Amino acid sequence: MPPSDDLRVELITDAADFEPAFICLRNAFGHQTHDGIWAVMYPGWDTPEGVVRGARELADRWTASRERGNVHFLKATLAGPGEERIIGGMAIWVHATLLPGHGEVLVPPADFTKLYPDNEPEARYARQLLGSLFKHRFEALKEKARPESLQKSAMVLDLLAVDPAFQRKGAASRLTQWGLDEAQRLGGIESMTEGSAMGRLVYKQMGFREVQAVEYDVDEEFKARERPSNVFMRTGSA
Ligand SMILES: CC(C)(COP(=O)(O)OP(=O)(O)OC[C@H]1O[C@@H](n2cnc3c(N)ncnc32)[C@H](O)[C@@H]1OP(=O)(O)O)[C@@H](O)C(=O)NCCC(=O)NCCS
Repeated sequence: MPPSDDLRVELITDAADFEPAFICLRNAFGHQTHDGIWAVMYPGWDTPEGVVRGARELADRWTASRERGNVHFLKATLAGPGEERIIGGMAIWVHATLLPGHGEVLVPPADFTKLYPDNEPEARYARQLLGSLFKHRFEALKEKARPESLQKSAMVLDLLAVDPAFQRKGAASRLTQWGLDEAQRLGGIESMTEGSAMGRLVYKQMGFREVQAVEYDVDEEFKARERPSNVFMRTGSA
């Protein structure tokens, strides 16, 4: 389908946008693809309270990172029936590094007891899932942190989803392009992400190559659970 003429991609500047943005994520990862990581990270995602909570988490992350200016929350909007615009998708791009002073310093996912205060196994599973998902991005950033590396950081596409009702209108391509443009602006640094089965269809067309499938290193008791296919992807040749 040709990209919609009316599509806009902009930085989120109002905390009120996080609820409709979260609903796009919920409809895509929850209802459409039944993503097993999504379900663990956002318990109750399919309830009204879960939506409020999810939107608040996004808004809190946005507020906490705002001053440093390295984490970019984007929305894709289309014209609504009246004057207002409808949020159809969102993305989070992070100018990421392991070295202070070179971008947003990422720390490996560690503790999910706040998410699951009375459920040690579920907190452990969440840590193992996220640790596995992000393993390759941390390895790549570790390489970049070496003294001989010229680029100390990368643009990381942390999250992207488009509501099924708005898909195939070019929203994901534009949300992805925003970060690739920022990577150029930062001196031609590399971009990387973990691509889902659907996400890969977009990223491969935009200069990302598949590096390695994510393997989930989880305890025996969790092995039978469903987990989404993800592939670590990057734009550079390193
Ligand atoms: C993946 C996703 C973000 C794509 O969003 P989108 O706005 O529909 O993507 P675009 O319109 O920019 O698609 C660009 C191109 O990618 C390819 N593509 C995207 N979705 C596709 C699909 N479902 N089937 C086949 N090709 C697809 C097409 O070539 C498309 O161009 P075309 O529509 O002109 O043929 C969306 O499907 C989604 O949110 N999926 C569920 C959640 C998810 O997996 N998110 C990605 C996490 S990494």
